[in-house]
Amino acid sequence: MARQALVRSFLWELAALRLLSPHRRVRLLRRLGLVIGERTVVEPCVHASSPRVAIGARCYIGYNAYFDAHGGITIGDDVSIGAHVRILTREHPIAPGPIRHLRRPDQDIDRPVRIGDGCWLGAGVTILPGVTIGAASVIAAGSVVTRDVRPDALYAGIPARPKRDLPPGLPVAVPPPLPA
Ligand SMILES: CC(C)(COP(=O)(O)OP(=O)(O)OC[C@H]1O[C@@H](n2cnc3c(N)ncnc32)[C@H](O)[C@@H]1OP(=O)(O)O)[C@@H](O)C(=O)NCCC(=O)NCCS
Repeated sequence: MARQALVRSFLWELAALRLLSPHRRVRLLRRLGLVIGERTVVEPCVHASSPRVAIGARCYIGYNAYFDAHGGITIGDDVSIGAHVRILTREHPIAPGPIRHLRRPDQDIDRPVRIGDGCWLGAGVTILPGVTIGAASVIAAGSVVTRDVRPDALYAGIPARPKRDLPPGLPVAVPPPLPA
């Protein structure tokens, strides 16, 4: 068992390496249990706390993505995720006692995050547990999303607030195909 865990840790380290092509990285992540659709590109330094990540087809996952995936993360098709994006699914409730910051694993609450087709998350966006992002929405760089986001809208800020509606039905960004 310990050996198995060690091998998995090693594979995670390998998946994060810049030396690996995006194509091989995706194959390795699939081996680790993540579900990843065709023509999806994953840049280096990706990390997931659990394999409960499902990514659709033709997505772009930028450098240093962090998936805190205990509660499950579902990403649709044609989604672009900028560098340094964090998607969080585990909540540590604040303790009522004097030491409020203690993590209490027995009381952790895991809530899934869902990102609809065609969304664009700018660099450095943080998504908090339980949030659903409606299809084809844009989240501005550095925003922290604390509540659900409606489809076809631009949200920005900390906490992210709706800035304006976007015209629905536009074609979404598709990353270039992977080299064979
Ligand atoms: C959102 C973005 C695309 C700009 O879109 P836009 O349609 O030109 O939006 P605007 O510049 O007109 O801004 C609309 C509103 O959002 C605010 N806003 C835009 N970007 C913001 C940000 N990153 N953080 C906080 N507020 C932001 C503006 O201040 C404005 O607010 P107001 O209406 O209250 O004045 C751009 O700011 C952005 O964040 N790009 C991400 C770039 C990136 O991450 N690239 C990495 C490659 S994946």
